[in-house]
Amino acid sequence: QDNNTWSGRFNEPVAELVKRYTASVDFDKRLALFDIQGSLAHAQMLAECGIIAQSDLDLIRRGMDEIRAEVEAGRFEWQLDLEDVHLNIEKRLTTLVGDAGKRLHTGRSRNDQVATDVRLYLRAAIDDILLLIRALQTSLVTLAEQHAATVMPGFTHLQVAQPVSFGHHLLAYFEMLKRDAERMVDCRRRVNRLPLGAAALAGTSYPIKRERVAELLGFESVCQNSLDAVSDRDFAIEFTAAAALVMTHLSRCSEELILWMSPRFGFIDIADRFCTGSSIMPQKKNPDVPELVRGKTGRVNGHLVALLTLMKGQPLAYNKDNQEDKEPLFDTVDTLTQTLRIYADMIGGITVKPDAMRAAALQGYATATDLADYLVKKGLPFRDAHEAVALAVRFAEKRGCDLADLKLDELQQFSPLVGDDIYAVLTLEGSLSARNHTGGTAPEQVRAAIGRAKKYLEE
Ligand code: ARG
Repeated sequence: QDNNTWSGRFNEPVAELVKRYTASVDFDKRLALFDIQGSLAHAQMLAECGIIAQSDLDLIRRGMDEIRAEVEAGRFEWQLDLEDVHLNIEKRLTTLVGDAGKRLHTGRSRNDQVATDVRLYLRAAIDDILLLIRALQTSLVTLAEQHAATVMPGFTHLQVAQPVSFGHHLLAYFEMLKRDAERMVDCRRRVNRLPLGAAALAGTSYPIKRERVAELLGFESVCQNSLDAVSDRDFAIEFTAAAALVMTHLSRCSEELILWMSPRFGFIDIADRFCTGSSIMPQKKNPDVPELVRGKTGRVNGHLVALLTLMKGQPLAYNKDNQEDKEPLFDTVDTLTQTLRIYADMIGGITVKPDAMRAAALQGYATATDLADYLVKKGLPFRDAHEAVALAVRFAEKRGCDLADLKLDELQQFSPLVGDDIYAVLTLEGSLSARNHTGGTAPEQVRAAIGRAKKYLEE
């Protein structure tokens, strides 16, 4: 007879192909240490409640110590026949400590066990990710600090719009990541609840203490409904949605890095260690890392849709469908973790070319709004000012020069309100420093934002 846990019920062994089809050990073995952690807490509670003997608990602990060592050393022999990480570990425990191992599963099901393992895993992953987001924010703030007063063209529609500080532009990503971290923290609260005790779906007839297990595992509370506890994976979906947003933010940043590194912009250079060459074109240095970040964002977005789709048709309570939550979730964690790690280093390795940024900001009439605002301050209604400046831009464009290159009497053709104080207004620095309020691009404000950011990072 094959060694399956449920062979007593069956008239023939499970087909080989089906075993391979239903087994998850190849990928869920990465939950091993969390599985052990969960089992030890469960066993301790069982002993404390008098459901198993203290001597059984001692044996279970001894066996689990050995198994942990085997897993950590890569010596554990995973068997596909044993389907998943849970049965593999339980079987090994029984081999090591006999009947005590067989008592571990009292008052428990793999359904509440796996939900617990995934939550323990995800909680640890979120803690890692929060640190990595912070490290990336630190890189951004460090670079922003060097460039609070570096002028670059700001874009809308990818057309030159108004001059902005490069530091200000970088801090936009700091803000996005700050919200991303908030989302992760918020999601963690709902991850951090204990399913164990729900057993297969209805709870268990043993006098267990779920709160005690929650306490032992550092969960904030216990899931309040056994059917919900074993069947929902909304916490994983929430996490993946938050992860997809982080990736989306980094994808936008990547798109900008790629553009900025293109010689047409020439605003930055990315350190060689993040680029690759071409096998045919000797001159090439390609921004592969940001391109891959952009590409991998699609993959994480895909995982989000996969998980949503996984859940949408499932009746309560547990269904085997849920085994399919792991690969998308693990890959989301891996992709996001690696991306954040590389990104923090890559941002630190950027060479900024302020001259190219400045030259670009001088093209495209980036200070046209400043001329309009100047006229408004002299009493002209904004719409009339807008019209006057539009005509001035058309005139300058025909000449092939900038607004600041026009003589005073030429500018006065468009409005008699123009005085010779206009030239200070039309400079890039004048434009920047005029936007001097919270959230504005004036270098003074950017420095204040950097101060706030640093305080946040120290907390
Ligand atoms: N490997 C399963 C999963 O990942 C564990 C739970 C299996 N439960 C069951 N009744 N088949 O969801």
